[in-house]
Formats: sequence, C-alpha cells, structure tokens
Amino acid sequence: MSDSGEQRGTGERQWALILGASSGTGAAIAHAVANKPGLNVFGVHRGRYLDSAAQVERQAKDAGRRVLMWQADASTPEAAEAGVRALREVAGPGAVKLFVHSIAGASVGRFLSEGEDRLHAKRVRRTFDTMAHSFVYWTQALVASDMLAPEARLLGLQNTLKETHLTNTGLISASKAALEMYVRYLAMELGGLGHRVNLLKFGTVMTPALKHVYTPEALERLEEAHARMNPAGRMCTVEEVARFVGVLCGEEAGWFNGATIDYTGGMTLRLLDLVLNP
Ligand SMILES: NC(=O)c1ccc[n+]([C@@H]2O[C@H](COP(=O)([O-])OP(=O)(O)OC[C@H]3O[C@@H](n4cnc5c(N)ncnc54)[C@H](OP(=O)(O)O)[C@@H]3O)[C@@H](O)[C@H]2O)c1
Repeated sequence: MSDSGEQRGTGERQWALILGASSGTGAAIAHAVANKPGLNVFGVHRGRYLDSAAQVERQAKDAGRRVLMWQADASTPEAAEAGVRALREVAGPGAVKLFVHSIAGASVGRFLSEGEDRLHAKRVRRTFDTMAHSFVYWTQALVASDMLAPEARLLGLQNTLKETHLTNTGLISASKAALEMYVRYLAMELGGLGHRVNLLKFGTVMTPALKHVYTPEALERLEEAHARMNPAGRMCTVEEVARFVGVLCGEEAGWFNGATIDYTGGMTLRLLDLVLNP
C-alpha cells in the first residue's frame, strides 16, 4: 500500500481513539472532536453506560462521522492490541490523529486501613493498569501497527490531586503521577516523528465518576466549594474541557509536547486563603 497522505488518513479519513468514550469527559470529547476538527470516533468502554454510549454514537453520526464503540476492558496489553487491530480494520493504517486516555477506574481508600477500604495489592495493580499503564500499552499498539496519522496528538488527562492532599485519593494520585511520567517519556520517543504527547490537567467537572464517589448532598457541597475556589465563581464543565481538546488537535497547538497543560482555571490558587481567611 502506498503511503500517500490520502491513504495514511488525512482529512475525513482521520480518527479519534478514545478510551472511556461512553461517559463523562471521554463522551464529551468524542462529541466535540466529531464536530471540530471533524474526526471519526473509535470509542472504548466496558458497557456500563450503554445509553450514553448509544448517544455518543448518534451524535458522531449526526455530525457526519463514522463511529465504532468497542466494548472491552482496556487495561491490558492484549486488549490494546485487539482494539488497535479492530480500529485498523475500519480505519486503515495511519488514521489516528487523536488518542485520548479518559478512563476512570481507580480504587479509593487508605493504604494502612484495616477495614474494607484498605488499598491492598490487587487494588494497587488494577488501578495502575487502568489509570496509567494502559496509556503505554495502547501507544505501543498504535505505533506497532503503524496507526498514527501525521502529527498525531496523544493525550492523558490529569486532575489537581497532586497539588494538595485529599483523603482516600492516594492511589489515584500515585497512578496519575506515573501517567505524567509516561507522557513525558513518550513525548521524547515520539517527538522526532512529529507526534505530540501531552497531559491535560483540569479541575473538577461533574461526571458519573464523581457521582459514583459522592452522595447527592456531598455533590452539592462540592459544587458550592468550587464556586468559592475557582476564580470564575463556578465549576468547569466537561464541554469546556472537550472543546479545548479540539483546539489541541490544531496546528497552532503543535508545539505543546511532554507538557502538563494547565486548564484548571486557577482552581487551586486560593486554597490557603480559603483555609486561613474563611
Ligand atoms: N471528573 C473530573 O472531575 C475529572 C477531573 C480531572 C481529570 N479527570 C480525568 O478524566 C478521566 C475521565 O474521568 P470521568 O470523570 O469522565 O469518568 P467517567 O464519567 O466515569 O467515565 C469513565 C469512562 O471510562 C470507561 N472505563 C472505565 N474503566 C474502563 C476500563 N477498564 N476499560 C475500558 N473503559 C473503561 C467507562 O465506561 P465503563 O465503565 O462502561 O467501562 C467510561 O466510559 C479520568 O482519567 C479522570 O481522572 C476527571
């Protein structure tokens, strides 16, 4: 097969591969990039949000894109290889302009707890596989199958937990620290080939992951606290994050590499003020 631009996936032949595309941030990103810059969507999820997965599919089709929602646990190297094979069959080589890792699958709890919330070895391994290692496995599979489009964008998602302590989230923070290092090293390895690997850091947005962790009353408190924390006086939305991912696909964002891009809207700037001058 020739390596012409058309066959290597330019324009309408370009795809977004989104892990965790059936809900929250991943679903919003699928919707946004199907519209602008207009990417076809290959979404991966395990099937817990089937209605929302069907909606992602409808929205991408309405935008005139091709879409395939692939159901699997994305956390293993075998799943990455199988997923990339399935993607290659529908998209052809060199088609992936955007790869986004938007999986939320972590254990919360304490490392030294003697109770149910103990972060034992199985939870540690599972969380790291899901939240961090899978980013490497899918990148390896994409490169091995020659699936990256010219100047592809690979994106991990970061939260603000590294900046301050939040009870029960130690394992999430540790896995995100690993993800951050993976991003930097992959940026070095792929930079010379024209690809860009970054981490997009954003503050709390309302998604099923949060609703899973907090009670409705706690969510209300959370929203109110964020209105006080964020200089904008409100929480960020998944749609805002998703639209910015579309921007990161653009030529103008091509110099970001190995970066943790701060899209937190200043969420942690006032923490001391809030504690010391309530
Ligand atoms: N929400 C926030 O406030 C926030 C802030 C900053 C960063 N982030 C980051 O954004 C990412 C997405 O979070 P979210 O809040 O949007 O989560 P979410 O709404 O719970 O969505 C998570 C997605 O991942 C899929 N998923 C989970 N485990 C999977 C696995 N092993 N294999 C395949 N798919 C899997 C889920 O579908 P299934 O369960 O059906 O598989 C779902 O589609 C996370 O990396 C999170 O750390 C979130």
